[in-house]
Amino acid sequence: MKNNLSIFGGEKVIPEGTIKKWPPIDKLDVDYVLSSLNGEIHSFGPNCKEFEKEFAQWNGNKYAITTNSGTAALHMGIAGCDFGCGDEVIVPAYSWSSSATCILHHNCIPVFVDIDFDTMNIDVDKIEEKITEKTKGIIVVHLHGLPVEMDKVLKIAEKYKLKVIEDACQAHGAKYKEKKVGNFGDCAAFSFNQNKCLCSGEGGMFVTDNEEIYNKAKMLWNFGETRVPFENRDYHAYALGWMYRNNDLTAAFGRAQLKKLDWYLEVQKKNAEVLTNILKEVESLILPYVPENCEHNWYNYTIRLDMDYFGIKKDKRKFRDYVLKAIQSEGVKCGIWQSFILPIMTVFQAKNAYGKGCPWSCKYYRKEINYNPEEYPNAQKHCDTHFGITDPLRAPNDEKVAELIGIAIKKVIDYVKEIGPKKFIEKCEQFLK
Ligand SMILES: Cc1ncc(COP(=O)(O)O)c(C=O)c1O
Repeated sequence: MKNNLSIFGGEKVIPEGTIKKWPPIDKLDVDYVLSSLNGEIHSFGPNCKEFEKEFAQWNGNKYAITTNSGTAALHMGIAGCDFGCGDEVIVPAYSWSSSATCILHHNCIPVFVDIDFDTMNIDVDKIEEKITEKTKGIIVVHLHGLPVEMDKVLKIAEKYKLKVIEDACQAHGAKYKEKKVGNFGDCAAFSFNQNKCLCSGEGGMFVTDNEEIYNKAKMLWNFGETRVPFENRDYHAYALGWMYRNNDLTAAFGRAQLKKLDWYLEVQKKNAEVLTNILKEVESLILPYVPENCEHNWYNYTIRLDMDYFGIKKDKRKFRDYVLKAIQSEGVKCGIWQSFILPIMTVFQAKNAYGKGCPWSCKYYRKEINYNPEEYPNAQKHCDTHFGITDPLRAPNDEKVAELIGIAIKKVIDYVKEIGPKKFIEKCEQFLK
């Protein structure tokens, strides 16, 4: 065999040190952060205020609130939309856990809808069948940076008088019909954690154009108070509040990164194109699908293995995991973003978020809610077959790196096809003992 895989002792396609770390840090970041450090306010400070203004402007929103996580911004959305005890909120069966647990945070009940296998987003044609008299809203997740088909969602929302929250935690700059996400629903949440297209360490942003939602979200964000730092606070909790404020250092870092975000997104797009051009010839790989009216931001370039092509019926995960290990061994930093569908997570299966079965056991809730994993076959199929690439396709990594990633993936898949998946698994088991 001429191209022995690195996992079996062959030479790596991508030498150590080729892929640069994320995010790129330069003088601008250092200047912003140092200036914050030398300033006088280190909690919610002047950089926080400026970050809110700049992000709102960048994304085209009227209001923005800087938070200490994307999850906090999601919870603020739930409170801002006035969802509460007994209310059901629809959410995709595949996402980050907090896309659904944020609903529980406000004593509401998540109701899951399967994903569409092609887009990996909520299957908009299956939303209506999950709506009951208790349903108050829909959380859409623009998963991996691909916008959800918002026209259909908004039509359903209008028909049933539901509020829509966009989980745009992964989708900075992604566009639906040429408009940035975060501008379609009643409000939206972004995340700025380590892995996101805009990284400020940790952090997030809540955005909305609706003043009432903004004010309610702000109360939850700041101890239930109506006045924020910089205003004449009375330190009175008018409602149940949390402490979701950001701090000045993180906001300063975020501001510097925001200045480079358009460039980052351009680089990701070019690199994704290069990778697609190499891999589109490789039968057996299911590459990301982008509908015509969507602009992906390529937060995560997700590939699914076509198990039918390989003739694999059992051991799909085992096969995928070995293929992934082989690709990683070639020097590609890639992984499995989330390997569980949300409804099977213990917090939902046990229906015991707050103890004593709460909130499901409370008298205000519909008793028929159940989380049968069999209702989400597309989400499960996705979990069993995918792997994805984030940082290596981001700036400062360029098209040459993207090309190497393509070559490495192709090398592994060609090898697997040559010896056959069964033998490949056996060989992996032998080598990785
Ligand atoms: C889709 C999605 N929603 C919500 C979150 C939560 O964001 P954070 O980690 O900033 O709380 C994340 C990221 O972790 C995410 O990917």
